[in-house]
Amino acid sequence: MLLKRLSALDRPAVTEHFAAQERRDLYLRFGYWPSRAAIEGYVNALDFEHDALFGHFDRSLRLVALAHLSMGQPNQSAEFAVSVCVAHRCHGLGQSLLDRCIEHASNCGIHSIHIQTLAENRPMLCIVLKHRHQMQSFAQERLATVPVPAKGLLSQLHESLQDEMAALEHLGVRGLLALGRACSRAAHCRRPATSMQVQRPVTTSPRVATEAVVPLPTHSKVTT
Ligand SMILES: CC(C)(COP(=O)(O)OP(=O)(O)OC[C@H]1O[C@@H](n2cnc3c(N)ncnc32)[C@H](O)[C@@H]1OP(=O)(O)O)[C@@H](O)C(=O)NCCC(=O)NCCS
Repeated sequence: MLLKRLSALDRPAVTEHFAAQERRDLYLRFGYWPSRAAIEGYVNALDFEHDALFGHFDRSLRLVALAHLSMGQPNQSAEFAVSVCVAHRCHGLGQSLLDRCIEHASNCGIHSIHIQTLAENRPMLCIVLKHRHQMQSFAQERLATVPVPAKGLLSQLHESLQDEMAALEHLGVRGLLALGRACSRAAHCRRPATSMQVQRPVTTSPRVATEAVVPLPTHSKVTT
């Protein structure tokens, strides 16, 4: 699983991620049921420079987990929201995205992160409970405030290194996937040869050449 900070280039992957979520999960994530048009409007309005979006990509570079850290001003707070595809739940992806956001917030001088969730959202509350936090209750809603520890220059260096490595890895995997697709297209376009025609000179009359069909061994492979 590749954890990467997202850029505006990842907008289509973000739309695809939300489009793949079940209705109930979209409700838990947004607090209402957004239509496809509302999701597209939300994704188009995302500010990847000011806010921080992080995602886990699987081996085919599908965005399977996504966190949005909506940034306030330095010395203020940020707001965290997350969603993980059903097939990848309970593997620590939600937790690792919160940890990554805490590190980023710390490096930006943010002192706390707010997480708004429903009281029935046990997995989200379970993630929050692992951090020192304050919890406020408003009817069916819970507002958790997770403190962000102050960190120094080393943490900032660590984060930029992580970002660079992840961006490089993402590029590398994308290149490999494109190469794989090109190879399989080429293999499908080439008809497998079962025999080949060769020109065989007839030794008795050197001026006349005759054609002969030479069967290929049945185990011969089509190389790409
Ligand atoms: C909340 C959500 C992001 C969690 O993602 P995740 O990758 O499964 O989270 P993690 O694996 O890091 O941790 C989940 C924790 O909840 C626990 N959990 C899962 N289902 C649970 C349940 N029904 N009751 C109690 N705890 C539960 C897991 O055991 C795990 O705790 P552990 O690490 O101590 O075992 C995911 O369920 C999701 O996308 N939900 C829909 C959107 C949403 O609710 N977003 C939150 C709005 S801010």
